[in-house]
Amino acid sequence: MRGSGPLEGTVAIEGAKNSVLKLMAASLICDGRFVLRNVPRIVDVEIMSDLLTSMGATVRRTEDHVLTIDVGDDITPEAPYELVERMRASIVVLGALLARNGYARVALPGGDNFGPRPIDMHIAGLEALGVRFDAAHGYIEARCDNLVGTRVVLEFPSVGATENLLMAAVRAKGTTTIDNAAREPEIADLCAFLTRMGARIVGGGTSTIEIEGVDELAPVDHTVIPDRIEAGTFLAAVGVAGGEVTLQGARADHMDMLIRKLGEMGMRVSPSSDGLWVQAKGRLDAVDVSTLPYPGIATDYKPFFVAMLAVAEGVGIVTENLFSGRFRYVDELVRMGADIRTEGHHAVVRGRPRLSGAPVRAPDIRAGAALVIAALAADGETVVSDASHIARGYEDFAGKLRSVGADVT
Ligand code: UD1
Repeated sequence: MRGSGPLEGTVAIEGAKNSVLKLMAASLICDGRFVLRNVPRIVDVEIMSDLLTSMGATVRRTEDHVLTIDVGDDITPEAPYELVERMRASIVVLGALLARNGYARVALPGGDNFGPRPIDMHIAGLEALGVRFDAAHGYIEARCDNLVGTRVVLEFPSVGATENLLMAAVRAKGTTTIDNAAREPEIADLCAFLTRMGARIVGGGTSTIEIEGVDELAPVDHTVIPDRIEAGTFLAAVGVAGGEVTLQGARADHMDMLIRKLGEMGMRVSPSSDGLWVQAKGRLDAVDVSTLPYPGIATDYKPFFVAMLAVAEGVGIVTENLFSGRFRYVDELVRMGADIRTEGHHAVVRGRPRLSGAPVRAPDIRAGAALVIAALAADGETVVSDASHIARGYEDFAGKLRSVGADVT
């Protein structure tokens, strides 16, 4: 690809990757036909489809963005290493399988390449609900006679732990309270999905969620919320390349803090009748950014901020508070001429007017997208290798950028 801009036109925002993967897992809770709408065409959805299929479910794309999942009574409650290793989010089948039949065997997760990602909070929470765990040969085995509702206080508002607990608790005897629950919009979407199935949940999307267990649940037809991270990616693209773009289907109310930060940098972002309108002129102003659990700035946005700051006016400090080792793409940006120094979980970014196209390697989904965004402000050609990472989380990323005027294939 080559440096391009300003970007002009409309980009459609797909359904949220981090929601649909969990809703697919939640389909394992009861038998019947589930219909999911607004499902993006991305590799992670295929991996989750393969996982459900390996357990005995039938997953079909019945229309362009519609997934039909048939769950029968012959589900094998096991998530094999070959699939879990490809996608860490597979771990959420644990809660769903426990709710289904009190047993699950799940390979220990691998996933994105940024530092250790333990599941101790998932396990401690499920143990409090009466689950016993054994680990051997790279698998964890979870079993319980009855799930029993209780109060669980999470040490940290972990998205995955909150999801596993929610899915298990919908079938527990009595009431489960999750305190310090994650508040991400994707959690609220999972709660809406489970509630539609017949679960009794109060407080989804807040830090205290109460779930009263029920005996009967039924399959549902559900439309996935829009992907706030995909939307954030295109906002950053406009930030770097300039221009005026409408993000069709994006939801401003899921992106408050991000929109505020982009405003401080000099961008104009506002809700429109069909999504979000964004405009950027000239170089952005540098700001400091710290990632935090929702409603803070998502850690997934961080590489986009680093890319924007690399060509902004001034110096910005980016602080990562969620994951260790999520700065690996910085070396690649430096190869493109960016002035970035990292120290522990901070990156100091000194803006330059332009970057310089170079061969670079995408280390994971979001960092890969950030390298593409940075290349919009680079002179000459940039070749991003390992770009397959990007397809894990983005539907037709290059095509969408091209449709608003970027020079990318
Ligand atoms: C999800 C998202 C990911 C996003 C992250 C934080 C999906 C598929 N992925 O990941 O894109 O960046 O939320 O918003 O939805 N932790 C523990 N023990 C645990 C669980 C988590 O120490 O048992 C730590 C993690 O290592 C990490 C932090 O808690 O440092 C946050 O993790 P968590 O919120 O669980 O993220 P994920 O659900 O893995």
